Amino acid sequence: MKEQATIVVMLGAPGTGKGTQAVLLAERLGIPHISTGDLFREHLAAETPLGIEAATYMNKGELVPDEITITMLNARLEEDDCENGVVLDGYPRTLVQALALESYLDSIDEELTMVANLAVPEVLIVKRLSGRWMSKSGNVYHAEYNPPKRKWFDDEDGSPLYQREDDKAETVLNRLKIYEAQTLPLIDHFREEGKLVEFNGVGEINDINDEIFEALQ
Ligand code: AP5
Ligand code: MG
Repeated sequence: MKEQATIVVMLGAPGTGKGTQAVLLAERLGIPHISTGDLFREHLAAETPLGIEAATYMNKGELVPDEITITMLNARLEEDDCENGVVLDGYPRTLVQALALESYLDSIDEELTMVANLAVPEVLIVKRLSGRWMSKSGNVYHAEYNPPKRKWFDDEDGSPLYQREDDKAETVLNRLKIYEAQTLPLIDHFREEGKLVEFNGVGEINDINDEIFEALQ
């Protein structure tokens, strides 16, 4: 990574809009969007051993073990397209991952630019996830709030959309429990480091993105 790369972390419970916002923000900043969830889903689609192992955790709504996740993410950060920075979506998600990221950035003389925390009430989260449709390439839609131009096909490449295995109601509830136990403590960690900026995740998608973009300027 170059000096003064922009490194943004999107934090928030499942369904708060991390992916939706991260894609838009990365486009505006001209840097890659890296979602650990998407990376695991790509591995699963390619039936790699890592993908098959990750799916055993993901389908229960549990976190993939830190060691696997950190190794995968650090390898991704080494790629050339990360030179000017990255928007990280869904990583870090545990204190161990946060410390691993900070020590990696430290080792290359970089630091986090901003941690954006999105807040959305739980009732809306459940509605958002039950109506979510995804494309293979990682584009995210919602049946009601953010529909594709042609019903159930991707706007960009026209491929058929699908619903995520872990968006079933009982798995969503477990994901929320795991979030509270393992990821919520990161809010205090990043606040203490002066990196945390809080955003209301309820509202127009583009308005929320403007707020995040402006906070970075
Ligand atoms: P991951 O894929 O990261 O899932 P998640 O954290 O549960 O978050 P989601 O992707 O469900 O929600 P989102 O916040 O991205 O919301 P979205 O933009 O889609 O992780 C999946 C699994 O992988 C984990 O459970 C774990 O097993 C594993 N994993 C991943 N990272 C890991 C890590 N670091 N360590 C260990 N394990 C890891 O929006 C949701 C819906 O709402 C969409 O339909 C969207 O269109 C709609 N929407 C978005 N914004 C708005 C808005 N403003 N108004 C109305 N609707 C909106
Ligand atoms: Mg996501």
